[in-house]
Amino acid sequence: MKINLAVLPGDGIGPEIIDVAMNVTKAVCRKFGHELAYEYGLCGAIAIDKTGNPYPEETHELCMKSDAVLFGAIGDPRFDNDPSAKVRPEQGLLAMRKRLGLYANIRPVATFNSLIHKSPLRADLVKGADFVCIRELTGGLYFGRPQGRSEDGTTAYDTCVYTRDEVERIVALAFEYAMNRRKKLTVVDKANILATSRLWREVAKEIAPNYPEVETEYMFVDNAAMRIIQWPTSFDVMVTENMFGDILTDEASVITGSMGLLPSASIGTYTSVFEPIHGSWPQAAGQNIANPLATVLSAAMMFEYAFNLKDEAALIRDAVDASMSANVCTPDIQVEGGKKYGTSEVGEWLVEFINS
Ligand code: IPM
Ligand code: MG
Repeated sequence: MKINLAVLPGDGIGPEIIDVAMNVTKAVCRKFGHELAYEYGLCGAIAIDKTGNPYPEETHELCMKSDAVLFGAIGDPRFDNDPSAKVRPEQGLLAMRKRLGLYANIRPVATFNSLIHKSPLRADLVKGADFVCIRELTGGLYFGRPQGRSEDGTTAYDTCVYTRDEVERIVALAFEYAMNRRKKLTVVDKANILATSRLWREVAKEIAPNYPEVETEYMFVDNAAMRIIQWPTSFDVMVTENMFGDILTDEASVITGSMGLLPSASIGTYTSVFEPIHGSWPQAAGQNIANPLATVLSAAMMFEYAFNLKDEAALIRDAVDASMSANVCTPDIQVEGGKKYGTSEVGEWLVEFINS
């Protein structure tokens, strides 16, 4: 098969974790005889520095003509603490999501047996946790307008907007997803307070009868935040709006033992994007300590979702499992006293596993 990728490393640890994910991708393509072509593009703070635009037109064109996008991370503290900054790296990510029409962000959360000891939660609670959060990605508070400040600067506002169409397509996708899993869907909202949430619930209740086999439950987001920690095994598929999904998936990453383990697939109208859920961790940039596994697992999702290559995806997941069982791990998930491995050393081990 011919595989044509856009690679956007971004900022901070982005380039290091993308290096590992690309080496893994190349090894898998070699092994299975796929012809791999790829081109690097700019996005985030690095794109602002070089072009003034966090998502340059050239990068958009590259994404549009590729079969899939592998994305690292973006964000830079130079912009976080500067309220007067006119452009921010995050705007690049949001522009990419919006312009590629990536309305569904699929974030699987599963524990790894060899890492149960790293979870701050009790092993008997998290063992076997395996759910998927489907986060709406192109609406809600992230994109609603108006957004800004009053003229005198003393009042700020954001707007949460959802249309029926936007809710329908993501909820329908979540039901389809649940049909291929354990057939349980949790619709997470704040319908006791928010008008947008009431629309979500209304739409979900209309769609639910089309999926009689799926057990549907409705849960307020505050309650969901609590239950994710207390009974993570009670979830199968969860669907929620943009901001709730952002927050709940950072929380859920704790169950697995590290932020550095959760991959994601963003799918929608045009080219799909595969990216770790974590940020750019600028303090660790260039130190060879960042965990590359979330990005490597995102590459596995890419083989599966963008190319329907399940064996390739499975081999990557096997390699990741094996590396953890062998304790070939970056410091965040290392067993006490074990040998220390850097980002690139973990990558080399994975490539060797795939080649063998
Ligand atoms: C994520 C990240 C992004 C988001 C940031 C970097 C804009 O936290 O993908 O979860 O908030 O969506
Ligand atoms: Mg986030």
